[in-house]
Amino acid sequence: MATVRLLMLQKALLHRTTSWSSSQLLLRSPSIPILTSLRAFSSAAALSPPSTAVVYDQHGPPDTVTRITELPPVEIKENDVCVKMLAAPINPSDINRIEGVYPVRPPVPAVGGYEGVGEVHSVGPGVKGFSAGDLVISSPPSSGTWQTYVVKEQSLWHRIDNGTPIEYAATVTVNPLTALRMVEDFVDLNSGDSIVQNGATSIVGQCVIQLARERGIHTVNIIRDRARSDEVKEKLKKLGADEVYTESQLEVKNLKSLLINLPEPALGFNCVGGNAASLVLKFLRQGGTMVTYGGMSKKPITVSTTSFIFRDLSLRGFWLQKWMTSEKAKECRSMIDYLLGLTREGKLIYDMELVPFNNFQTALEKALGKLGSQPKQVIKF
Ligand SMILES: NC(=O)c1ccc[n+]([C@@H]2O[C@H](COP(=O)([O-])OP(=O)(O)OC[C@H]3O[C@@H](n4cnc5c(N)ncnc54)[C@H](OP(=O)(O)O)[C@@H]3O)[C@@H](O)[C@H]2O)c1
Repeated sequence: MATVRLLMLQKALLHRTTSWSSSQLLLRSPSIPILTSLRAFSSAAALSPPSTAVVYDQHGPPDTVTRITELPPVEIKENDVCVKMLAAPINPSDINRIEGVYPVRPPVPAVGGYEGVGEVHSVGPGVKGFSAGDLVISSPPSSGTWQTYVVKEQSLWHRIDNGTPIEYAATVTVNPLTALRMVEDFVDLNSGDSIVQNGATSIVGQCVIQLARERGIHTVNIIRDRARSDEVKEKLKKLGADEVYTESQLEVKNLKSLLINLPEPALGFNCVGGNAASLVLKFLRQGGTMVTYGGMSKKPITVSTTSFIFRDLSLRGFWLQKWMTSEKAKECRSMIDYLLGLTREGKLIYDMELVPFNNFQTALEKALGKLGSQPKQVIKF
């Protein structure tokens, strides 16, 4: 049974599939040291080190179905770059992929994770432009970053400034890029305009605040009720938030009366659903647009008939993975360099907790919300 699982896992793991025959995989019995199986290769093949990975064999609750295991070395081909991973975040979509509810997900068994950063460990003989020690991110991101070594073709790696803090390099693609595209792509905003959003404590939310501020755009932010909400509000205001309200503070008759010095927002972002989405809609001006990009509360969005007829509101959606296939995504790497430049200048910062790989289970529990509101969990390998 274990052998069958390993065979399936190997099939699912891109490069880690091709260089193993079934007899070699049989050598991967836990009782047989890795060195024994290494001997099965011809002496000419360059190999990656073995990789310690977070693997799931079936979909289900991530804290139940994931396990940490060692994967065998793989061949580093002509144009391959072998990267020693340094850090990778646990994003809500990683959780959804493991649960089996994300629309695009790798076949199981699979290694978790989707974005991350590492340093070049070794390269194939045909590789140009990468040297050992270079800091790289997988670009476009792809499944399988929760492991210590990843081997991929050179065109799938993007070299970044070696002075970039690893936690920002690891997290730059999924959330900051989403924030950037949403601020720029839906409504033409000018300096002085405003945006309203819920889920403002999320990384996307924190990035929206700062990218908007960079453009002179104000933000009205909605957060969940919590103990010590004043501290959270203060933190978001330090990032540049104009207004921050808890949901319960917005249980008022005329919401817009709260917008004393701000124009009514033309654009709203929703990553929560339920009541928090209704609040975003209530803040929007006539003809405004709400972009939904997440559904953290798992509650549906309810929209009144009057919102359509008398207020002419538009409801849109954004999905980064789909956007990555668009024409615009050709400039994705320069957008990432722009965002990383802002982080190095201290103009784009967000809350994260770097967690050693051997504390993965606790990080996962935090990311699953089992220990209350927590900063983004970033695994440090
Ligand atoms: N569509 C896309 O392409 C795309 C791309 C990137 C991200 N996303 C989505 O964007 C959202 C934020 O992602 P992130 O990585 O930035 O988040 P994050 O930093 O991991 O933070 C999670 C956020 O979700 C909130 N939250 C958690 N459980 C909640 C619940 N039951 N009800 C209401 N709010 C809840 C948290 O609020 P507290 O602070 O109150 O705990 C926090 O603001 C997610 O839904 C994610 O899937 C979508």
